[in-house]
Amino acid sequence: MYNIAVIPGDGTGPEVVGQGIKVLKAISKKYDIEYKFKEFPFGGDYYLEKGETLPDSAIEELRGFDAIYLGAIGHPKVKPGILEVGILLKLRFSLDQYINLRPVKLYPNVETPLANKKPEDIDFVIVRENTEGLYLGSGGFLKKGTPDEVAIQEMINTRKGVERCIRYAFEFARKRNKGKKLTLCAKTNVLIYAHDLWMRAFEEVAKDYPDITTDYAHVDATTMWMVKNPEWFDVIVTCNMFGDIITDLGAMIQGGMGIAAGGNINPQGVSMFEPIGGSAPKYTGQNVINPMAAIFAAQMMLETLGEEKAAKAVEASAAKVITKMKSMSAGKMGYGTSEIGDMVAEGI
Ligand code: IPM
Ligand code: MN
Repeated sequence: MYNIAVIPGDGTGPEVVGQGIKVLKAISKKYDIEYKFKEFPFGGDYYLEKGETLPDSAIEELRGFDAIYLGAIGHPKVKPGILEVGILLKLRFSLDQYINLRPVKLYPNVETPLANKKPEDIDFVIVRENTEGLYLGSGGFLKKGTPDEVAIQEMINTRKGVERCIRYAFEFARKRNKGKKLTLCAKTNVLIYAHDLWMRAFEEVAKDYPDITTDYAHVDATTMWMVKNPEWFDVIVTCNMFGDIITDLGAMIQGGMGIAAGGNINPQGVSMFEPIGGSAPKYTGQNVINPMAAIFAAQMMLETLGEEKAAKAVEASAAKVITKMKSMSAGKMGYGTSEIGDMVAEGI
């Protein structure tokens, strides 16, 4: 019995999470896996009503779950930054979800903006560090609002944080057993302290993984290769900020935000799974948003819980439904949101 915390969140979050839960219930019948879902109300509306984003007591409660399934956070009436920092980043940091795992996979029948690239060319995974770097909010202003203003935002890299992320990526490349290759994406030519640490940790940890081929690419070059030669990549490991940027590029080449999922993973603790596309407020309640990203997030959740057979079944059924869809974009799919959820559930 898995206890799953569900945070449907804002905008189209509840709709897509609803489809994911439908699919998880179908899995339950077929694979003898049981869950208990508990819904939490956090998001923009909760904040507007209560004036708080995510109380500390909720964090403590969430620690007791096996996983968290998140829809989307982001509300047009709430100033940017408040919900992102107060909910999403707070959860990542306080639950020490130090890996952000983002598969980039082009499924058959999905349109990619890259000319002449096929599903066999676009199939890699980005392992993004998720608890350090530029995201910690360390820094401040001096002489704010004056012509002499100084703004400092520090990029914090700890040996422990970097090493555990790199080690996870090596283990992941081994377990994935595809190209058995790990590329470090950094900027060692400019970030001569921060990414020197990354490079040294990478080279040292690599000694424990003689079966994994290692490679290095500067982040700017990485964006070039992701467009020109995505087939070169198997697993990429990178810091928080670069990971944020290249995973959006990854989402685009795999067919867009309608299909891209991610996991915020604490291998020893509670992990959280989400479609990475955001709350898409203009599509709310119209049954037009693509639930595939949320369904793939549910697949990642099953995989991380160790239910690999069930995870494969979700992927297979979703991939089959994808072959029937007209497009991955909201409103152009040829089906409604809930029909797609039904089809994937039926396929299982
Ligand atoms: C993501 C998002 C978040 C991030 C934002 C919403 C804080 O862009 O999950 O990639 O930057 O990590
Ligand atoms: Mn992002």
